[in-house]
Amino acid sequence: MTRRSSPNQRPTSPTGLPVRLAPLRLGVNIDHVATIRNARGGRHPEPIRAAHLAAAAGADGITAHLREDRRHISDQDISQIKAEISLPLNLEMAATEEMLAIALRHRPHACCLVPERRQELTTEGGLDVAGQRTMLQPFIAELKEAGIRVSLFVDADPVQIEAARHVAADIVELHTGTYCEAEFAQDHAAAAAELNRLREAAAQAAAMGLEIHAGHGLTFETVAPIAQMPEVVELNIGHFLVGEAIFSGLDSAIRRMRALMDRARAEIAGTRSA
Ligand code: PXP
Repeated sequence: MTRRSSPNQRPTSPTGLPVRLAPLRLGVNIDHVATIRNARGGRHPEPIRAAHLAAAAGADGITAHLREDRRHISDQDISQIKAEISLPLNLEMAATEEMLAIALRHRPHACCLVPERRQELTTEGGLDVAGQRTMLQPFIAELKEAGIRVSLFVDADPVQIEAARHVAADIVELHTGTYCEAEFAQDHAAAAAELNRLREAAAQAAAMGLEIHAGHGLTFETVAPIAQMPEVVELNIGHFLVGEAIFSGLDSAIRRMRALMDRARAEIAGTRSA
C-alpha cells in the first residue's frame, strides 16, 4: 500500500522506496474551438483541426462535451473526431436517453457523465451520483456492456465517491473548479482547503479501485498541485488552452501545459529526466 503523509512528499512503499507513478495523461477539451466557430455560424475554426493539432502537440486524448443544446460541439464534430483521430475520445455528456443512443452509436473510448442545466455557462458542479443511483446504475451498465469506459464527474465529496463505486463506474473525474476559482480569487486558504478535499477524495477513490481523473478550470498556475496527486492519472483541460491559444497558439499552449504537468509529476516521483 502507498503511504503519503504530506501533499508534496514523494509517495513511498512500506519499504520506504519511492513508488513508480503512473504517467499523467492530458485530455485536450476542444469544446471552445466550436464555441468560436459557432459565434459566426460558419466552419472556422474547425474543432477537428484543433484535435489533429492537439494530437501532434502531445495530447493523450481528445475530450468533447456534446451538450443537449449543442451550443458548441455538434454531432458532426463527434463523427469527424471518431473518423479521423486515433487518440481515445472522452465524450462528456448528460445521462439522457438521447446521449446514450449517440454514445452507443459512436462507441467512444470513454463517456464522462456530467450534470447539465441549459441556463448554466459551464458545468457548474459535480454529478449527484448518490441521489441518482437507481437511474445511473443501468445507464452505466449499458455503456460498459458496449465496451465504453464510464467516468463520473464528481465533487470531492466522500458520499459521491462511495456512490460512484456503488453504481460500478470505472472512473471518477474530480471537479477542480472550486479549487481553481479560489486561486483565481486569491483566496489561498480556501484553495488549500479544497486541495485537501481533492487529495482525500483521490485517496478514497483509489482505495476503492476507481481510476481517478481531474479537470475543470485548470490553468498553467493551478495545474501543478493536481498533477502531483499520485492517484490522478488523467487531466482534462479545455477553456484555458483555447483562450491561451489566442496569445501563443494552441500547439505552444498544449506543449507548455504538458511540460508543467510532467515537471510537477517528476518532482514527486523523483524521476525527472531533463
Ligand atoms: N472535465 C469536465 C467533466 C468538464 O465538464 C469540463 C468542461 O467541459 C472540463 C473537464 C474542462 O474544463 P475547462 O474547459 O474549464 O478546462
